[in-house]
Amino acid sequence: MPKTKQAFSPLNPIRDAEFFAGRASQIAMLREQLDEQTSFLLIHGERGVGKTSLANLIKSNILCKTTVNSTDSFSSLCMRLFNQVQLSGSKAGFNTTGTQMPVVRMTEKLPTILDIDVVSHVIQGLASSQAAFVIDEFDRIVEDAIVPFAELVKSLSDSGASCHLVFVGTTGIVGRLRAAHPSISRHLTYIELPRMTRDELAQIIHNAENVLDIKFSDDAINLMVFVSQGLPHFIHLIGQAVVKGTGSKGVGRDDVLQALGSCMDQSEHNLRELYDQAVYSAQRDAQYRQVLLACAMAGVIVTSQQGFFNAGEIKPILEGILHRKVVTASYHPHLQEFISKDRGAILERHGQPRKYRYRFSNPFLVPYVLMNALSTKLADIEMLTALIRK
Ligand SMILES: Nc1ncnc2c1ncn2[C@@H]1O[C@H](COP(=O)(O)OP(=O)(O)OP(=O)(O)O)[C@@H](O)[C@H]1O
Ligand SMILES: [Mg+2]
Repeated sequence: MPKTKQAFSPLNPIRDAEFFAGRASQIAMLREQLDEQTSFLLIHGERGVGKTSLANLIKSNILCKTTVNSTDSFSSLCMRLFNQVQLSGSKAGFNTTGTQMPVVRMTEKLPTILDIDVVSHVIQGLASSQAAFVIDEFDRIVEDAIVPFAELVKSLSDSGASCHLVFVGTTGIVGRLRAAHPSISRHLTYIELPRMTRDELAQIIHNAENVLDIKFSDDAINLMVFVSQGLPHFIHLIGQAVVKGTGSKGVGRDDVLQALGSCMDQSEHNLRELYDQAVYSAQRDAQYRQVLLACAMAGVIVTSQQGFFNAGEIKPILEGILHRKVVTASYHPHLQEFISKDRGAILERHGQPRKYRYRFSNPFLVPYVLMNALSTKLADIEMLTALIRK
């Protein structure tokens, strides 16, 4: 892919280290583990935080990668790994050059069904080359295939095989692995990827500036960072729309605001559908959009609670959006509806009556709601940022 396309690429994980921003501590941890003779790693985090991009930095003499699909068994996954052997000619470590490595397919005759013993044996046979095996989207694995992988880790660990086994998946897999095989946590090193910080998100923009010969103002960067809510996908989505929409070498806040409309059109189809279903009303004065925006802002403001907020926390925000006092009873029915199937269950409700907590069923909806509010002028950026400072 040409560099100008890679600079902002919302749909593709980073492959070229030149465009990789931030993550210093996770990189250091990964590097340290890959310097060991043997490592068993689990890279995990929320959807879309950059797990695959981080795993793409792994380099090794023999690098086998695969992605889980819902029909995979232990055997089918291992078969795909063994048939995708990459030789780079350098020692295991980090791919900072971004160069493509020549691919050599394994030609050994393997049995049609691979069990733990065979897989363990094959990996030990490759040990002198310190092979690295990366299994992405491991959270999609069927329950039956988890135990064999946990046992494989144990078997390779016991035998002292020289290899790296890297699982990548959303955080839910941590609990599933522990439940399936309690001793697995002793063998695995966990690398957690949180949402990106402001500086990390800004770095994505600065990396692109160099390649595209374009300059974003601080206001433009702040707006992109605010809307993205730590999810790099949205920085790439907005950045791409801005670059397409402006011929100028200097990007200001208005260029970003202008681009948000086309970002919504290009957002995942299900985000648009969910939003429209949640706020639909034949009545002009229905306030679904305002209440949903207040929910999104509550999730933003109450940052220590992983997106959770309670009904009371919405009140001052909704008052700021509507420019008038409200009572909880006026928006309580909206919350009830937002958790119902009729409105796409856009919110989840957790906990007990009187202590209910809510959050968006898909974290990508929060940036979507913010983009929508700003581009349709339901709210302006000054008002939203003032709410955060309150
Ligand atoms: N460190 C980074 N620097 C720059 N861009 C990044 C970085 N990490 C991720 N991105 C961008 O963010 C988006 C999501 O990245 P990626 O696909 O790696 O996330 P993921 O966690 O694997 O997502 P999923 O959960 O959907 O598999 C992509 O557009 C990618 O280019
Ligand atoms: Mg991924």
